[in-house]
Amino acid sequence: MHVKQTIAIIGATGNMGQAIAKSLAKEENRLLLFSSNLQKAQLLAEEIKSNNAAVEVEGIACPVDASWEADIIILAVPYQAEAETAKKIKDVARQKIVISISNPLNATYDGLVTSADTSAAEELQKLLPDSKVIKAFNTTYAADFAQPVIDGKQTDAFIAGDHSSAVTVVEELARTAGFNPVIAGPLAVSRTLENMQLLMIQLTMKYNYNWHAGWKILHN
Ligand SMILES: NC(=O)c1ccc[n+]([C@@H]2O[C@H](COP(=O)([O-])OP(=O)(O)OC[C@H]3O[C@@H](n4cnc5c(N)ncnc54)[C@H](OP(=O)(O)O)[C@@H]3O)[C@@H](O)[C@H]2O)c1
Repeated sequence: MHVKQTIAIIGATGNMGQAIAKSLAKEENRLLLFSSNLQKAQLLAEEIKSNNAAVEVEGIACPVDASWEADIIILAVPYQAEAETAKKIKDVARQKIVISISNPLNATYDGLVTSADTSAAEELQKLLPDSKVIKAFNTTYAADFAQPVIDGKQTDAFIAGDHSSAVTVVEELARTAGFNPVIAGPLAVSRTLENMQLLMIQLTMKYNYNWHAGWKILHN
């Protein structure tokens, strides 16, 4: 039997925050949804409950309280907002899993704002030195969560991290969300994962994938 885990989603009413919240809304998870607009977070919690009354989910007015109560913290905010968010939650996020989902895109989507020798995830780890930062869900579009099977294949969800027990926990979250988890390597592999999604975004615009596309490794 699963021990119930508490998951805080910061930026819960954004595209990704909502998608992740709905996907992880299972009885084994307690969800704390933080948005700067509490009413929007509460409405999302109600919507989730109306689909499954057994799910414990609530909107919460403070990211520090949400992170304090959580076992796992998901930062579903733009890369540019991560430093400010990390500063707020640093003390209460100690020893906890913090999931970096961001793609640090530049304004024209033709490059990343991070330099080649780092990644958004590694920068977040520097800001939260006592937390276990794990890269996940940056290679899956928000729309993929509602339909993780695309063209008959289960989308891969790549995960990178330096703490193996934390990677295992996040692997299970990816599976719960309906994806095929692929453990890509240590946190520094986030450089590749973030560049992969930059390419995916460029290809999505070029070939008109309608923002519902994903990666799949074909293998025997
Ligand atoms: N969209 C995708 O398909 C996709 C796929 C993979 C990864 N990602 C990554 O996921 C993250 C969220 O993307 P999104 O598409 O969900 O963006 P979004 O729809 O704009 O939502 C981001 C949320 O972050 C919060 N936020 C915005 N600016 C903030 C600030 N300055 N300080 C604190 N919070 C702020 C807002 O929440 P409140 O105002 O409600 O608090 C907003 O709802 C990004 O890092 C992105 O790179 C997105």
